[in-house]
Amino acid sequence: MSLMVNKIAAAGLAAGVIAMTAGLIGNLIINPPGYHHSEDEQFAYVVEGDGSATEAVVEEEPGIEPILAMLADADVASGERRARACTACHAFESGGANKVGPNLWNIVNAPKAQVPGFSYSDALAGIAEPWGYHELNLFIANPKEYAPGTKMSYGGMKNVNHRAELIAWMRTRADTPAPLPTEEEINAAAGGASE
Ligand code: HEC
Repeated sequence: MSLMVNKIAAAGLAAGVIAMTAGLIGNLIINPPGYHHSEDEQFAYVVEGDGSATEAVVEEEPGIEPILAMLADADVASGERRARACTACHAFESGGANKVGPNLWNIVNAPKAQVPGFSYSDALAGIAEPWGYHELNLFIANPKEYAPGTKMSYGGMKNVNHRAELIAWMRTRADTPAPLPTEEEINAAAGGASE
């Protein structure tokens, strides 16, 4: 991950010494300069003590941001455009054909690996939870991490806004769109760390 190395170096360079009244202890939190990747947080803490500055760089595990709270207001028309990343391999039509991947009509809340006539990998068939919004979010963000061994060769949609738009649109590709997440479900997901 040379990006991370660069960012650590950048944070190190940016860590200046804070000038304060002698004898006082200053705390300075610096966000690294340059671009900020939304899924990869990093902070440098600089604490000035008795003349010698110490620095600790803390790396947080990059997580996949939840989308539940974003679905109700997500731009469904944009979501349809996001689906161009999928349509080489998937139809989203009622009665649509399986292509390289299965037809994704009615996919929200569907059981995994259940589209008739499609030959799935064991990777997906082995995951019990249905395709709730949360599971779709994780899978679309990083298919191979969510379902190691999946034969879906797609690198993942990293932008959380794009995923929310896409999944809000996928919700409409159904005989009866699944209910939007309740406030309770949104809060539970927000309390559940990074997922
Ligand atoms: C290169 C082809 C390809 C692309 C691009 C692709 N997929 Fe897939 N997708 C597949 C294949 C193949 C499978 C079956 C995976 C398996 O069996 O492991 C699959 C499976 C899935 C499933 C599980 C379906 C089920 O019935 O369990 C979902 C959901 C899905 N894809 C969503 C998407 C979305 C959304 C996109 C676009 C962001 C996308 N895929 C892009 C090939 C692709």
